[in-house]
Amino acid sequence: MSSKFVITGGNRLNGKVRVGGAKNSALKLMAAALLTEGKTTLANVPAITDMKIMAAVLERLGCCVDCVGVNAIEIEPGCSIYTEAPYDLVSQMRASIIVLGPLLARLGRARVAMPGGCNIGSRKIDMHIRGLEALGARFEVGHGFIEAFSEKLVGSKIALDYPSVGATENLLMAATLAEGVTIIDNVAREPEIVDLVRFLIKMGARIEGAGTPTLRIEGVDKLYGVEYRVMPDRIEAGTFLVAGAVTGGDILVEDTIPEHLDLVISKLQDAGVAISQYDNKIRVHGCKGISPVDIATLPYPGFPTDMQTQVMALLALADGISIITENIFENRFMFVNELNRMGSDVRIEGRHAIIKGVPKITGAPVKSPDLRGGAALVVAGLVAEGVTEVLDVYHIDRGYQNFEEKLRGLGANITRVGEGEHVAALRAVQSSK
Ligand code: EPZ
Repeated sequence: MSSKFVITGGNRLNGKVRVGGAKNSALKLMAAALLTEGKTTLANVPAITDMKIMAAVLERLGCCVDCVGVNAIEIEPGCSIYTEAPYDLVSQMRASIIVLGPLLARLGRARVAMPGGCNIGSRKIDMHIRGLEALGARFEVGHGFIEAFSEKLVGSKIALDYPSVGATENLLMAATLAEGVTIIDNVAREPEIVDLVRFLIKMGARIEGAGTPTLRIEGVDKLYGVEYRVMPDRIEAGTFLVAGAVTGGDILVEDTIPEHLDLVISKLQDAGVAISQYDNKIRVHGCKGISPVDIATLPYPGFPTDMQTQVMALLALADGISIITENIFENRFMFVNELNRMGSDVRIEGRHAIIKGVPKITGAPVKSPDLRGGAALVVAGLVAEGVTEVLDVYHIDRGYQNFEEKLRGLGANITRVGEGEHVAALRAVQSSK
């Protein structure tokens, strides 16, 4: 039975909420642990479905993976690891492709199921492959798998056509054990990339340029297991900021890094939201009227695509017309149809969503189309008049730990009904080992 959230809108959210570790960093740090035989311990790992799937991928690769406490895991690849990431797991989480670079770097081969697209787009991996070929890898693609081989990766100068987060991460990890120097131009600059660079340097890698458009990696012979704490999740933090704004509440978001959300905060302030920042806290308080703003999603430090749907739920109630342009993924407006069933007035024109603000939205049964669209429907339900049922909550469980508990702790009227799909998904993963 697919679980759902039942939300009765209208409560102002007030209080404190702690942000967990970043899903989009932790997944890559887990993959980077493959670069050494030694033991790596990660702290502040969010207990979400995607982590469990990545843990299952690493176990299928022969690693010992142990939960050593709440939100902490130990990974020890040991000497003998396999090199195949199987379809049943990769098809559940396309980010599994991130094991390609580490497996190639340490073992000289990798066989990874082609990651299907997902609901938000084709999610191609051509830049991953071209970059790894530049380092000397050979590829064979067939039967739904990508096979990669390399006697020895050799440093090279690579320029990405586009600052792809995943391609940057795969090439960066592969280059740490390549012979000689690798220069990668036009890399992604997301904070999660900086977290990965910090982790790799702690393992013994030699990397310069984190957070800039160019990375310089000097290959080393060996990397070592380390202890590391995952950075806070900026998208979870941003989601709670919007939840506080849309309900006119007063929320203190703790354990976050405000500068990771500079443009999100600036756009929320343009929309009339009052926001104060402290060292590792952000306070969102009061929101008299919501003003329309225009937003274009871009690679970091541009406006993050992962915050697009949440902010659209806020702008649906603005006193004017806003335009959101989605430049990163080709199909990230699916949640609009669901939001319009709650009474919003959003029209799609290609990559643009034209959002004509309405005075109120009303509760309705709606379906989560994907992780962030689902979270945005919950945000909409918090302010909708009446009851909203958000179905297919398993999408949300992929990226938010204890989402409903945290919202209830802030005064939201939200309950989960039915078996947590994430529990069913975990059972499926565990039984497939
Ligand atoms: C990461 O996806 C994140 N996922 C996404 O978060 C995030 O939206 C995205 O970066 C952009 O910030 C994880 O980190 C697990 P990309 P990724 O490579 O690495 C195209 C969430 O909600 N592209 O920068 O897949 C691709 O099709 C998720 O937490 C190619 O064409 O992002 C897409 O249109 C959703 N060829 C665009 O680039 C390639 O070889 C951005 O992809 C690689 C990418």
